[in-house]
Amino acid sequence: MNSQTGTTPRVAVVTGTSSGIGAAVVKHFCEQGHQVLAVDFNTAGKEVADAAGAAFYQADLTDPEACRGAIADAVKRYGSVDILVNNAGIQHVASIENFPEEKWRQIIDLMLTAPFLLTQAAWPLMREKGWGRVINIASIHAQVASPGKSAYVSAKHGMIGLTKTAALEGGEQGITANAICPAYVKTPLVDNQIADQAKLHGMDEQEVVEKIMLKDAAVKRLIEPSEVAQMVAYLASDAAGAVTGSSWNIDLGWTAH
Ligand SMILES: NC(=O)c1ccc[n+]([C@@H]2O[C@H](COP(=O)([O-])OP(=O)(O)OC[C@H]3O[C@@H](n4cnc5c(N)ncnc54)[C@H](O)[C@@H]3O)[C@@H](O)[C@H]2O)c1
Repeated sequence: MNSQTGTTPRVAVVTGTSSGIGAAVVKHFCEQGHQVLAVDFNTAGKEVADAAGAAFYQADLTDPEACRGAIADAVKRYGSVDILVNNAGIQHVASIENFPEEKWRQIIDLMLTAPFLLTQAAWPLMREKGWGRVINIASIHAQVASPGKSAYVSAKHGMIGLTKTAALEGGEQGITANAICPAYVKTPLVDNQIADQAKLHGMDEQEVVEKIMLKDAAVKRLIEPSEVAQMVAYLASDAAGAVTGSSWNIDLGWTAH
């Protein structure tokens, strides 16, 4: 146990770390004293990792070999993987009728198949230690749908199924698996959507946030990436050993309707 942070140091692999939620998780984990491998296809992830004190592995996670390579790299550097945070994600908005098949496959590969392959590769390491944490960054779109987001919604709903299955298989092996379901978080992924919606509806960006994104929210603001990182840190902690198979909403009260 690190006496300053009150946290047992672990080895963590975090995906999608060049910005947004993943970058916040890398920073938070490093501050807690964990050894962190940050994985991203964007080399900007290296600067984020360097600044936080993490290692960086460049990988396009739509490639199965890159998923296995990321876990192998963590083992080479640190000898194990205790915590896996599946966070990398993209968005594409189009009606089902017009949704490009290539985009559909890319989203499913990155946001459902990669988390499966990463979990599969990390599993024996966690099982041998009798301790492991799989944390999947899903979305409120793992529980409800929105038009135009068929691939994203399908991948995120699938991620909940993967989380529950991993929880049942890991229960007797000391491995927990949980999902976090945020509503709109202030990250580049959402900034792009705000800009797109502003053009589409002829509104300014502030209006898009207030009238579209926060319409059904009880708390009328966007979520900070650091707020999600703190929930990740709890689920990764020893204190969360009895929490598994669950979906944690951080959704401004959106689904309370
Ligand atoms: N921002 C939100 O409002 C919000 C809400 C709910 C869920 N989420 C989820 O949180 C996760 C992180 O999103 P964010 O908002 O921080 O977005 P972001 O765009 O800031 O970060 C996504 C990261 O994934 C990386 N990435 C994209 N394609 C990749 C690939 N092929 N291989 C490796 N890395 C790749 C990007 O480089 C980036 O670092 C996503 O899974 C997203 O679906 C976000």
